Amino acid sequence: MPMRKPTQESSLSGRLALITGANRGIGLAIARALAREGCNLIITARDQRALAKASRELEKLSVHVLAQSCDVRSPDSVDYLFTLVRGLHKPLDILINNAGIAHPNRSVGDLPYPTWMEVIDTNLHGLFLVTQAALAVMKRGSTIVNNLSVAAERVFPGSAAYNASKHGALGFTDTLREELRPKGIRVIALLPGATDTAIWDTLWPQAPKRKMMSAETVARVVVDALRVPENATVEKIVVRPSSGSL
Ligand SMILES: NC(=O)c1ccc[n+]([C@@H]2O[C@H](COP(=O)([O-])OP(=O)(O)OC[C@H]3O[C@@H](n4cnc5c(N)ncnc54)[C@H](OP(=O)(O)O)[C@@H]3O)[C@@H](O)[C@H]2O)c1
Repeated sequence: MPMRKPTQESSLSGRLALITGANRGIGLAIARALAREGCNLIITARDQRALAKASRELEKLSVHVLAQSCDVRSPDSVDYLFTLVRGLHKPLDILINNAGIAHPNRSVGDLPYPTWMEVIDTNLHGLFLVTQAALAVMKRGSTIVNNLSVAAERVFPGSAAYNASKHGALGFTDTLREELRPKGIRVIALLPGATDTAIWDTLWPQAPKRKMMSAETVARVVVDALRVPENATVEKIVVRPSSGSL
């Protein structure tokens, strides 16, 4: 599929967006929503089969899709991904840092160290690695969206590693925004509440999913924020189920 060229019809049409964790859940919903706006996509995640399936679906929306498996915890894996990105010879207009994991409910006294490490590695170190690599291919007018959580600002007992990773990721995001402001690169902190995705299979399998938002709702809010004219920016998005119970 040839790359779509930028047009006037949508501010996002013909732009190039990279989405981590895009083979399911919120990442795939954002990929679909951006493809519908005419964005060309680079999608990544670890599970290659799910990634290939997502890629086939997204290509049907008549945009160019590069699907490359990448483990955001691995500097080598992130380096390889960005070798391919540079090979496109196009600046990256949108980076959606979405890859993330949760962990089963455990109090701090019972939280295994490997679990702590895995969550911090993915949600915090991975965010740093991908962002740092992306900055080399992003120009004035581009936007970074970091998918955090309401857990970036409030805490859920039993989720210490997740809460800590998302609090840290918010500190990183706020710092990044101030560093990039003079360069004309916008940084959006996305703080969703409970969203009906597979992450709950780890976190709380019996969670009442009917009370949650859909991933499509979160994606719609992200696209609206990305469509704001370049001389303005949405800095933080908090989107929660209206019942407020989750
Ligand atoms: N669902 C919610 O209620 C909710 C609320 C607030 C924030 N969030 C955040 O939203 C983001 C997406 O989560 P989701 O709810 O959509 O869950 P999900 O369906 O489990 O999706 C997580 C995505 O991250 C990818 N991923 C996980 N570890 C990775 C790694 N090491 N390297 C690369 N990709 C990795 C997964 O693909 P692979 O496993 O194939 O790598 C998958 O695509 C997360 O950052 C999460 O914290 C979710």
